[in-house]
Amino acid sequence: MNNSYSSTSQSLPSLPSALPTALVTGSSSGFGQLIALTLAQKGYQVIATMRDLNKQAPLINEAKKAGIDMRIESVELDVTNHKAILDVTKALIDKYGRIDVLVNNAGYAVGGFVEDVPLADWQRQMETNFMGVVAVTKAVLPYMREQGTGYIINISSISGRVGFPGYAPYVASKFAVEGFSEALRLELKPFGVQVVLVEPGAYPTNIWKKGFDTIHTSQHSPYQDKLQAILSYSRKTASQGADPQEVADAVARICAIRYPKLRYAMGNGVSLLLWAKMLLPYSFLERTMIKMLGTTKK
Ligand SMILES: NC(=O)c1ccc[n+]([C@@H]2O[C@H](COP(=O)([O-])OP(=O)(O)OC[C@H]3O[C@@H](n4cnc5c(N)ncnc54)[C@H](OP(=O)(O)O)[C@@H]3O)[C@@H](O)[C@H]2O)c1
Repeated sequence: MNNSYSSTSQSLPSLPSALPTALVTGSSSGFGQLIALTLAQKGYQVIATMRDLNKQAPLINEAKKAGIDMRIESVELDVTNHKAILDVTKALIDKYGRIDVLVNNAGYAVGGFVEDVPLADWQRQMETNFMGVVAVTKAVLPYMREQGTGYIINISSISGRVGFPGYAPYVASKFAVEGFSEALRLELKPFGVQVVLVEPGAYPTNIWKKGFDTIHTSQHSPYQDKLQAILSYSRKTASQGADPQEVADAVARICAIRYPKLRYAMGNGVSLLLWAKMLLPYSFLERTMIKMLGTTKK
């Protein structure tokens, strides 16, 4: 990983940008790519960061097709590289003079039952999904606070509201993002910076395949049959998920709301599940989830 600022710079001005600017992490695929494109379409100068610039072609091709490639700059950034985060943020401020929107989107899902997931994988999950969000936010904050305006949009998950078995590292990382965002929102309100959580349910992006391919288990795992039941449930829900563009459109809408809510949950079945968690006895919800996931038997 290159620590210094590296981008496919197009000839953009070095004075403060006339356009509002948005920094998106994890833009090589999925929501991040769609969010970058959608914000550029809405008139933002987008700094689309990704950890491997070799993966920028789909984003750039889509941007060219839509005639908005001049408003998207791809920049290399791994959110676990804290030095690179500071370098990238400073270089962007030097170039554009402002950051109006930060979308903390980069993330991945570690799957497996708690006993089967090595500690190093728990640490890596937290490093990316939680510490990555903290580090990028901290880098951007001095500028947004000084500007007295800005949006920090953290892509959490329904897994940040409800714990699902077989995904505890992912669930823990998203619950951490939720707590962090709640506290940060109160800290930044007086400074005019809005902190928002977007909480998607299952959408058909690459995250699921990547997660299924790297699932932690073994032939002799006592959880093997339960994991298989959960995997088949997850595959079904992910493939039947709504169009991921919904999430990108929601992010663009949120950036246009002067006083957005803290949480925006979206996706098939998500509202029902959240209402059930809020209104029903928790023991009933637990029984229903275990039955639904097919993990009842010992
Ligand atoms: N899809 C869903 O159903 C769903 C539901 C709820 C929440 N989410 C959340 O949505 C966000 C985006 O996921 P997605 O569904 O769009 O999946 P995706 O297509 O796999 O996109 C994830 C992005 O994050 C990047 N990334 C992973 N680790 C990174 C790191 N250390 N530094 C920088 N970038 C990194 C990936 O880069 P590489 O290509 O290099 O791996 C990729 O660009 C994640 O935070 C995820 O938890 C997704």
